[in-house]
Amino acid sequence: MNSKLFLLWAAVAVAVALMATVDSPQLKDRSYGGHLPRWRGIGSKAFTRRHVAKLTDFGGVGDGATSNTAAFAAAVGNLSQVAADGGAMLVVPAGRWLTGPFNLTSHFTLFLNRGAVILASTDMNDFSIISPLPSYGRGRDAPGGRYSNFIMGYNLTDVAITGNNGTINGQGHVWWERFRANELQHTRGYLVEFMFCNNVLLSNVTLMNSPSWTLHPVYCRDVIVSGVTIYAPIKSPNTDGMNPDSCTNVKILDSYVTSGDDCIAIKSGWDQYGIAFNMPSKHIYIRNFTCVSPTSATIAIGSEMSGGVEDVRAEYITAVNTESAVRIKTGIGRGAYVRDVFVRRMRLHKMKYVFWMTSSYGQHPDEGFDPDAVPVVRNINYSEVTATNVTMIGRLEGLKRSPFTGICLSDVTAEISVMMKKKKKPVWICSFVEGVSTAVTPLTCAALKDAGAQAASSCPFREIP
Ligand SMILES: *[C@@H]1O[C@H](CO)[C@@H](O)[C@H](O)[C@H]1NC(C)=O
Ligand SMILES: *[C@@H]1O[C@H](CO)[C@@H](O)[C@H](O)[C@H]1NC(C)=O
Ligand SMILES: *[C@@H]1O[C@H](CO)[C@@H](O)[C@H](O)[C@H]1NC(C)=O
Ligand SMILES: *[C@@H]1O[C@H](CO)[C@@H](O)[C@H](O)[C@H]1NC(C)=O
Ligand SMILES: *[C@@H]1O[C@H](CO)[C@@H](O)[C@H](O)[C@H]1NC(C)=O
Ligand SMILES: *[C@@H]1O[C@H](CO)[C@@H](O)[C@H](O)[C@H]1NC(C)=O
Ligand SMILES: *[C@@H]1O[C@H](CO)[C@@H](O)[C@H](O)[C@H]1NC(C)=O
Ligand SMILES: *[C@@H]1O[C@H](CO)[C@@H](O)[C@H](O)[C@H]1NC(C)=O
Repeated sequence: MNSKLFLLWAAVAVAVALMATVDSPQLKDRSYGGHLPRWRGIGSKAFTRRHVAKLTDFGGVGDGATSNTAAFAAAVGNLSQVAADGGAMLVVPAGRWLTGPFNLTSHFTLFLNRGAVILASTDMNDFSIISPLPSYGRGRDAPGGRYSNFIMGYNLTDVAITGNNGTINGQGHVWWERFRANELQHTRGYLVEFMFCNNVLLSNVTLMNSPSWTLHPVYCRDVIVSGVTIYAPIKSPNTDGMNPDSCTNVKILDSYVTSGDDCIAIKSGWDQYGIAFNMPSKHIYIRNFTCVSPTSATIAIGSEMSGGVEDVRAEYITAVNTESAVRIKTGIGRGAYVRDVFVRRMRLHKMKYVFWMTSSYGQHPDEGFDPDAVPVVRNINYSEVTATNVTMIGRLEGLKRSPFTGICLSDVTAEISVMMKKKKKPVWICSFVEGVSTAVTPLTCAALKDAGAQAASSCPFREIP
């Protein structure tokens, strides 16, 4: 794409995201005008399954009141017997299908027609307690097990959730209220979790109001997320959008998140449990992604990153009314590393921070974390960034024992908010970081040496395959 098209893309992207800000679930036209490279042949198998059945074949009633827990269990159970023979698809027709949690199977597509809404039960007794994640050692909200996820794929291959933009609604308010009131003894479940799965596709669906994290692929390979819209109120607790966690080969494209926590958070386990489990997140590719999240990051890495995170590439990223763009969060006890992060072509409006890297993240699973487990952060390259109405441009704080190195910024223009200009407060904080910069305005971080015109070519983006 040439630079004129890029500017057109940027202008349209920000305008469109502005229309969609905050808690309005009404997204208007989101076309960009430009043409981005496409990933071809996405999950083509998922659309041509040999065995196709409808939820109503199994007694499903889409009136929003009748429980469909038995219908989903019967449907998936039945189709799982034939799925190995050319695959199986369960079609959810238009209607409101109330149900308790259910699990998916291999060689299987859950297809939501236009107007189909799968509604999570609000009765907590429908959610059994399942084991904590081995790389976390305990639940994220509380020690011990966790409430069942709403829709789960466990140990599967070739599994998809897709359709014509139907909705999966977690009815999370019941969980948020009890979580805030400190009434829950166990960790809240996630809306959709794939655990130990290969060849996962999630496309053309809307996910909303998760009890906690929304989409959680964990210990998975070859995951594609395309055309997914995620909503949660901006004040709902821990409602992250997408959390690739100890996964390899994840592609996220053409998607939109507005939520109460990070829009995307790339993770890999928590302190000593994540170190012992030792499964990194790597080859995570993001293209054409829009975020609105006033108190969190567009793309976070961490804070749980104790299996390591490497090779993250993101381009054509839009954020509006969001706390930060890319945020690396780590701390003593996490160990492992974050390395080889490439981000280019970001358009940002109304941000607290453009670049934020934190090495002082607290939150440990228990007192057993290793105070010598010091994370290493290196090779972080950002280019072609335009930001308006920002409070701070950079807040980069490495560790004295382990400075963040190989940071490269090029072609960055940030416009400070009127309020900050009046206050004359610093718009950069840099400590224990090393790197280079070129064409970054304004820049007041001595650690990022101006490398001059040469640097643009030494701060490269690694193309997304
Ligand atoms: C999908 O539906 C949501 C509302 O449920 C809407 O905001 C979004 O624009 C729709 N996406 C597409 C591609 O139609
Ligand atoms: C369930 O599977 C069996 C065998 O594959 C099939 O004969 C039967 O019709 C299915 N039941 C329903 C309700 O579709
Ligand atoms: C789904 O699978 C998980 C993992 O095997 C299990 O713990 C859970 O009970 C299952 N949930 C349902 C609703 O069957
Ligand atoms: C996972 O699936 C494989 C076959 O696909 C099976 O051999 C294995 O026992 C399963 N493991 C668990 C824990 O379910
Ligand atoms: C998503 O929906 C669009 C428009 O209906 C369709 O062209 C595309 O093939 C779908 N993609 C996937 C991966 O489901
Ligand atoms: C970018 O993603 C949005 C969905 O958020 C989609 O409507 C739009 O067509 C995509 N733009 C391009 C150029 O592919
Ligand atoms: C910048 O954002 C603040 C709120 O964070 C708002 O009050 C102000 O009007 C905005 N200024 C511009 C120039 O957009
Ligand atoms: C990122 O930029 C740095 C500084 O120019 C450079 O040394 C490094 O090679 C770049 N990263 C990669 C993997 O291209």
